[in-house]
Amino acid sequence: MEKNETILILDFGGQYNQLIARRVRECNVYSEVVPFNISLEKIKEKNPKGIIFTGGPASVYGDDSPKCDPEIFNLGIPVLGICYGMQLMTHILGGNVAKAGKREYGTTNVIIDNTSLLFQGFGSTNGFLMSHTDFVESVPKGFTNIGKTSSCPNAAMENKDKKLYGIQFHPEVNNSINGTLVIKNFLYNICNCSGDWTMSSFVEDSIKTLKEKIGDKKVLCALSGGVDSSVAAVLISKAAGNNLTCIFLDHGLLRKNEGDEVEKVFKEQFDINLIRVNCQDRFLSKLAGVTDPEQKRKIIGEEFIRVFEEEAKKIGAVDFLVQGTIYPDVIESGLGKSSVIKSHHNVGGLPEHVDFKEIIEPLRNLFKDEVRKTGLELGIPENLVFRQPFPGPGLAIRVIGDITNDKLDILKEADSIFREEIANAGLHKSINQYFAVLTNLKSVGVMGDERTYDYTIALRAVETTDFMTGVWSKIPYDVLEKVSSRIVNEVNHVNRVVYDITSKPPATIEWE
Ligand code: XMP
Repeated sequence: MEKNETILILDFGGQYNQLIARRVRECNVYSEVVPFNISLEKIKEKNPKGIIFTGGPASVYGDDSPKCDPEIFNLGIPVLGICYGMQLMTHILGGNVAKAGKREYGTTNVIIDNTSLLFQGFGSTNGFLMSHTDFVESVPKGFTNIGKTSSCPNAAMENKDKKLYGIQFHPEVNNSINGTLVIKNFLYNICNCSGDWTMSSFVEDSIKTLKEKIGDKKVLCALSGGVDSSVAAVLISKAAGNNLTCIFLDHGLLRKNEGDEVEKVFKEQFDINLIRVNCQDRFLSKLAGVTDPEQKRKIIGEEFIRVFEEEAKKIGAVDFLVQGTIYPDVIESGLGKSSVIKSHHNVGGLPEHVDFKEIIEPLRNLFKDEVRKTGLELGIPENLVFRQPFPGPGLAIRVIGDITNDKLDILKEADSIFREEIANAGLHKSINQYFAVLTNLKSVGVMGDERTYDYTIALRAVETTDFMTGVWSKIPYDVLEKVSSRIVNEVNHVNRVVYDITSKPPATIEWE
């Protein structure tokens, strides 16, 4: 990648750190989250236009509280300290941090000095999210006050000459009104950024660097049809052309027509060297009679790797293996925090017996929304770019109990009707995940004058941002009615449809 203007975000353990990085990027400036104790040499190497200190749960007086190298303030690089970041700046530079009697929490009116470069475009009072106990009692020498609330005398401060700024509130969250403008002002008015981070420049620069790296060497990519691996594959193909081979395993657990759609896009639209491995029977026989969800996941994960290895062997040695790692994964693992993803979600892992020299991760600096924008930039169809999350084990964990071909067919039909009607009702962008489940339950029904004894389909639809928690979606009754009536009329062996009205927690999104 060509060197973009960079903002370094020093992570002091706050819960909104990724959000700060995203906000900076939304302002078209590249940002990186780094540990709070990053060395001065490393900082100089990265040559940032500015530095942001995040908030964090610690008190500057705590024995183990995170502290940065005090020399940071003498580098001549602008610094914005947020919450704990402001308190640390104060503490190091000789001001005084005091303990408040009570915690100030919530969107609070801050009286600001809107002649400051940090607050250009604001009125004299603005609602920002405050969330702190300690506060800056007196600002360090050389600083002036540029903001206060009824209970916090120094809600914002600046040392204009040294370009050091502190704010006690959180501009990165939505509860702060127009908070992104504070960040934008810091980037453009104080750090003098020009805003060179766009997805089109990312695509252009990546292709150039990948071309240099790959040359005419061989690259192998496992394509799942999911957003990350699809975007990674197309991006690499622009640099590697025919030297890229993608292996797409169709294990028969994808949604209706999905295998054909993926093949069509990659082969026809992008002319990618794609090997589709039809291994439905192999997976089904491994799964025969298996009812335990974790067992299903394990079998599928292992089998996936085995088939991939066998196919890779046919190709022979390659130089690079593509991984669809994205930035949140890098932040989570790089900063030593425990991963938020449940272990069983990481289906697959790295194949052990594939002959490659190096991993290549073209998306490792991108957030999910940036991956999607890159996908659009590359011309990948919208329905693929905005595809809802789909679990690695696929429909195997949406057929409750043992899996057969007939059951999969029933589920595929019902699920396809549900998705079609959600799209017809224009709800596909507001519901984050929606699908049908084939319950293992049979019940009595009546069709014409005949008694039936057939399956129950459950519909699941959730609204969520992080997929760790979520609420069931309040789909209008007329839409549900249409889905239900179409499913029982059009799908054989289904005589009942129910709607899952449980949130997460206590239920999970998937039924298995
Ligand atoms: P749960 O069911 O745990 O799901 O609420 C949260 C999100 O993770 C997806 N999910 C999986 N993804 N392999 C995956 O790649 C899995 O085994 C798996 N299980 C659940 C689920 O679809 C939802 O988006």
